[in-house]
Amino acid sequence: MSARIVSGGEGVEEAVAILRRGEVVALPTETVYGLAGDAFNHLAVARIFEAKGRPLTDPLIVHLPESGWLDRVALFESASQRAQVDQIAAAFWPGPLTLILKKHPDLPDLVTAGMQDVAVRVTAHPLFREVLRQLNFPLAAPSANRFGKISPTSAEDVQNELGSMIPLILEGGPCEHGMESTIVVVKGGNLEILRPGPITREQLTEYGHVAPPSEAVKTPGSLPSHYAPKKELQIIESDIMDWISASGRKNAALLAFRSPTPVVIEQCTALEVLSCSGDLREAAVHFYGALRRLDQSQSDIIFAEALPEVGIGVAIMDRMRRASHGSRHASFSSHE
Ligand code: TXA
Ligand code: MG
Repeated sequence: MSARIVSGGEGVEEAVAILRRGEVVALPTETVYGLAGDAFNHLAVARIFEAKGRPLTDPLIVHLPESGWLDRVALFESASQRAQVDQIAAAFWPGPLTLILKKHPDLPDLVTAGMQDVAVRVTAHPLFREVLRQLNFPLAAPSANRFGKISPTSAEDVQNELGSMIPLILEGGPCEHGMESTIVVVKGGNLEILRPGPITREQLTEYGHVAPPSEAVKTPGSLPSHYAPKKELQIIESDIMDWISASGRKNAALLAFRSPTPVVIEQCTALEVLSCSGDLREAAVHFYGALRRLDQSQSDIIFAEALPEVGIGVAIMDRMRRASHGSRHASFSSHE
């Protein structure tokens, strides 16, 4: 069985009908594709966890059509917190930012994995927004990949990940950012970045003191081994040519930031260039797709060139390190 991929108004209509029945569908967002279900329907939420193979301890993000719906899923600790959230929402929503707030008691505990806090965001994707507009409930939606795997940035990626588990994928084209939303805790006037993403630390400083995440608030899904390709992935922090020669690997794929030299290209079985001009935003858009293709190539290892950790480069390197950790872990466990 595979999911039907449907686009446009027809796709929206079908997605709405399926979601109203308490089933799940994959929807496009501006970051990555999400697997959506009615956030107030226990069965729909359980289906999301089941389709992804995700542990019930890992909470989901709740997607709203507009910030005016915040009171249906979250509580505010004070008037000043409310004012700060309103300012942030006005600046970044709709867009690739998720806020962690106190959970409303009416929201099923399953959505937040029993946690007292809820993650909320308002996506900018017109198709997702149209689906939400036609429903009268918010949608819980994690990234539409099997748990711990590479996030999908196209309808085909979702088909490869979850096609056998879900009835419908709403086709919305390639994702604009290609990297999951920035997750921020708004607490005591401070902003704590739990997951770096398209909205950068620099952009957030205008709206509160950006403090390092406290020990108490963790993103349960942020395991060191996430976004894992099947092949081993090693990050190159020095000269690419030196690294490939020193590794002694004859069958290596290269995930390059910029176009490499012809000598380097000759050494690689497979190559993906994230941005010929060295543009970090373009690199983010291409990152997961390139990683997927190299994972499917004939090579037996992926070397990934480290990127500058500025702006969205922080998010890309965060994902690259997790992909590297995960693949090392996978290659160890296959020897057990
Ligand atoms: O861009 C995105 O955020 C995409 C699109 C589909 O919206 N969604 C996404 O969801 O990346 P997911 O589930 O793949 O990642 C959400 C992360 C997980 O690591 C989860 O543990 C964390 O957010 N999270 C969710 N609720 C939380 C909460 N209440 N407190 C702390 N972390 C939370
Ligand atoms: Mg995810």
